[in-house]
Formats: sequence, C-alpha cells, structure tokens
Amino acid sequence: MILVTGGAGFIGSNFVLDWLDKLDEPVINLDKLTYAGNLDNLKTVADNKKHIFVKGDIGDFELVSKLLAEHKPRAVLNFAAESHVDRSIHGPEDFIQTNVVGTFHLLEAVRAYWRGLDDEEKAAFKFLHVSTDEVYGTLEKNDPPFNERNRYEPNSPYSASKAASDHLVRAYHHTYGLPVLTTNCSNNYGPYHFPEKLIPLVIHNALNGKPLPIYGDGQQIRDWLFVKDHCTAIRRVLSAGRLGETYNVGGWNEKPNLEVVHTICDILDELQPRADGQSYKSQITFVKDRPGHDRRYAIDATKLEKELGWKPAETFETGIRKTVQWYLDNQAWVENITSGQYLKWVEKQYQ
Ligand code: NAD
Ligand code: TYD
Repeated sequence: MILVTGGAGFIGSNFVLDWLDKLDEPVINLDKLTYAGNLDNLKTVADNKKHIFVKGDIGDFELVSKLLAEHKPRAVLNFAAESHVDRSIHGPEDFIQTNVVGTFHLLEAVRAYWRGLDDEEKAAFKFLHVSTDEVYGTLEKNDPPFNERNRYEPNSPYSASKAASDHLVRAYHHTYGLPVLTTNCSNNYGPYHFPEKLIPLVIHNALNGKPLPIYGDGQQIRDWLFVKDHCTAIRRVLSAGRLGETYNVGGWNEKPNLEVVHTICDILDELQPRADGQSYKSQITFVKDRPGHDRRYAIDATKLEKELGWKPAETFETGIRKTVQWYLDNQAWVENITSGQYLKWVEKQYQ
C-alpha cells in the first residue's frame, strides 16, 4: 500500500480518487483537515475498503511512525501543505509550521521507518514530495521556462516554505540516502479546487453575481495544468523516476490571468447565460495587486517527457471546459464550502 498526505485537499483528493479507480493498491490518507481539507471530495470512496482515512498532522512524529509501522507502505507521497499565496502573505506562520517543520518531522519518521526495513523492502521504498514551480521565483516576458536547473528564488512566504521543504527532501537523500523524488508543478485547475484560488473563485463569483477580482493589470502569466494530468505525472514519476531527481511538471499552457477569466466567462455565457443577457465579463473588477506578485511562471517539462514519456492529455481549452462544467454540475459541493470560516477569509482579503 501507499501513504498519501494531504489527500483531502484539491490535488491530493484527485490523486487518491484516480489511484483507487485505476489501481488495486490500498491508500492510507493522512490529512489534518484544515480549512482546505474536505471529506466531501472523498465521498465516492467513503465505503471503499482500500481507502483508509486518518485525521492527523504530518508534523506528528508519533502518529506518522505508528501508521508506518502498522501499514508498512511501499511509498509515501507528500501532498500536505498550506498552499494559498495570499493567506501566506496575511499569516506566514502556518506555512512555516506545516510546510517546513511538518515536512521535517514527516521526513524524520519516514527515515526511521525506512532504516528499519529489510533489504528488499528498503530497495523498493520511495518518498515522493509534491512541490511547486513557485520555488523558482518569477520570469520576465522573454525568459525561457523554468527547468530543473534553475536557481531557487522564492518570493512569497508560501514559495519560500515550499523551497525549504524541497531542500530538506534533497538533503535527506544526499545525507541519509533516503530514496526521494520531487515534482515541481505549475498551477493546477480542475474538480474539487477550493474556491479561494483564481479559477474556482471566478466561476463561483460569476454564478453568484459577484465581482470577478483581477489583481493589478491582470497580465500576470501562469502555466495551467489540468489536475488529472498532474496525477498521471506523479504516478509516472513514482513508478519510473530516478531517485534523488526532481521533475518539472507543466502543461505548456501559459496564459495571462485576464485571458483565463475571459475564457471562463465565454464558456459560462454559452452554458449558463445570465438572465439579463449580459456577459459575465461585465462582472470583472480590477483590484489592488498582491504584494510581491510574481509576474510570470512557465514550466519546461522536457525532462519528464524525454525520460519518462509523460505528456499532458488536456489542452487548456479542453480542461477548462471540463472544469466549468464540473462546477456547474457540483454546485452543492461549492455551497458546502462557501460558509463559515471561508466567508471570513473573503471579507479580509477583498474588503
Ligand atoms: P490544498 O490546500 O487544496 O490541500 C492541502 C491539504 O493538506 C488539505 O487537505 C489540508 O487539510 C492538508 N494539510 C494541511 N496541513 C496539514 C498538515 N500539517 N498535516 C496533514 N495535512 C495537512 O492544496 P493543493 O492545491 O491540493 O496542493 C497539494 C500540494 O501540491 C501542495 O504541496 C502544494 O504546494 C502542491 N502544488 C499545488 C499546486 C496548485 O496549483 N494547487 C501546484 C503545484 C504544487
Ligand atoms: P492563485 O490561484 O492564487 O494561484 P498562484 O498565486 O499560486 O499562482 O492565483 C493565480 C493568479 O491569479 C495569480 O497571478 C494571482 C491572480 N489572482 C487574481 O487576479 N485574483 C484573485 O482573486 C486571485 C485569488 C488570484
């Protein structure tokens, strides 16, 4: 079996659902259920005996050690993190606690477990760390996309905390020989994306007659990847990646934010037109920019393609249409989230 952390979040839950759909191997899912963790994402596997959910913290050395000893996973995949840049600007502490200290305690528990395995199990074991392209900092308009040899230049508390965790993972390989793999992926989108991030926020606000907030001039560029493609990339790296290596994962889909929002409005205009006949674009509102806002991210995923034969299945056009349709079909999922804690965040961020 494998142990996944953060498997109730956006990418982790997509990964767990895909894994159980495609493979026969059980998953232990360790998640703290922060505001971003949502058991609704895992409803369809609630009765699946191959899915064992455990509420807990990756920083809890005792708990992680106990789970490892009890279930003897052949791999640990670390998705758990605080992941929202804007929240890291308002309050970096949780990011340091989970992404840096939590990853450290997780690595310590995994190292102790791995050391105690017999030779065969030890040789088969892998620790896969899921990270982001944001660790590389920002690109100018004509710079080549980030490859695995780019310098780490994180600019937000979020990306700095992820960079620190990547360095710890790297150090555990070089110092202790822990068999690790790291993936650095570009911006994901798709089902179960928490509606504080650009794409689900815009879909939700559009449908609810609220402003579509664009930071600054809206010309910041992100390289979008459909979440299911990220999941296939992680499975591929887990099965065939070279230990100690990092792999950049991206969709070759660079888009300015304003274009992304226009595309979402066009699809919504077609699938669920506004009652007054106006375009959802009329709800676009330019708001104050994010401090230290990275201008452009872009991923060069050549290594992953050449070495492991991975390519994304979706273009941005096909993936975004599926995503908008998913949100239209799953309004109840969104409604369950957009209450309580989350509303307080919206008030603070967009006041
Ligand atoms: P998310 O915020 O949607 O989910 C994070 C999950 O981790 C939640 O279920 C949360 O409850 C859990 N969690 C948080 N702290 C924890 C802790 N201390 N112990 C156990 N569980 C904890 O994030 P996501 O978008 O699904 O991102 C998953 C991973 O992928 C993160 O490591 C993130 O840095 C990375 N990543 C995300 C993107 C993206 O576009 N979303 C892109 C590249 C990489
Ligand atoms: P986000 O989804 O927060 O991802 P990240 O910051 O990790 O790239 O934001 C994507 C882009 O959209 C980023 O350039 C910030 C911008 N953005 C807005 O313009 N308005 C918003 O309300 C949000 C949440 C993001």
